[in-house]
Amino acid sequence: MYKKIALSISLLIIGTLFFYSQNNNNATDDGIHKEGFQEKVVESVEKSDSLSAAYKDVQDTNVNEETDSTMDKDESELESATEESRIGESSEEVDKKIDDIQIVGDTMEPKIGLDKKVRDESGKLLNTILADEYLLYTKTYNYHWNVKGLMFNDLHLFFEKQYEQLEDFVDSVAERVRSLGIPALGTMAEFIKHSRLKEDAAGTVLSEKEMLANLLSDHEAIIRSLREDIDKTDEIGDMGTNNFVTDLMEKHEKMAWMLRSYLS
Ligand SMILES: [Fe+2]
Repeated sequence: MYKKIALSISLLIIGTLFFYSQNNNNATDDGIHKEGFQEKVVESVEKSDSLSAAYKDVQDTNVNEETDSTMDKDESELESATEESRIGESSEEVDKKIDDIQIVGDTMEPKIGLDKKVRDESGKLLNTILADEYLLYTKTYNYHWNVKGLMFNDLHLFFEKQYEQLEDFVDSVAERVRSLGIPALGTMAEFIKHSRLKEDAAGTVLSEKEMLANLLSDHEAIIRSLREDIDKTDEIGDMGTNNFVTDLMEKHEKMAWMLRSYLS
């Protein structure tokens, strides 16, 4: 009996010692693994840091090289431009050129071989044409909206085509005025005041035939006025405006023919 108890106690002690021994070995292995892992982590981080540093160095070198190259290029272009400027005109010559440009208010006067008086006369003549064109443009638009009758669809589209042409005329005449260095008219009040044509009275109701006849009459009136303007621009020697007005007159002649064709 005592032998059995002694044997059991001995086995228990041996088992306990073996258990602790195993745990201690595991703990030591874990420690080794943890240490190994930490070393690897530290090594990777160091490698990563050194790679980043190396990459940054390369980048810095490239940027510096690019900047140096750009700066070298800019400096050489600047030197070359300065050299060209020296070869071309002296600063005194440039100053003189600026002095020669006549400044009136904030407007730079065109030096296009036409006296101020000629440009003023052409500008006035063109502004009157501009007023005529704008009034006829508005009248044609009005008829496009208000036409009615058996020919509604045909005339609605026909008037649309005509007011689009007149809109182009308005723009090109105004830009011709500006090309001569003269201010272009730009308000309804000015257009009505300077136009040689007349508006319909407000609320006037017209038949299709009356609309066509009114527009034809206005186009023919403009053509007659333009013919006089052609002679005048010839007299004052503004051949650019003379050519412009001649071209404009021919376009009105064609538009008038189309209107007349409805009425014939
Ligand atoms: Fe329309």
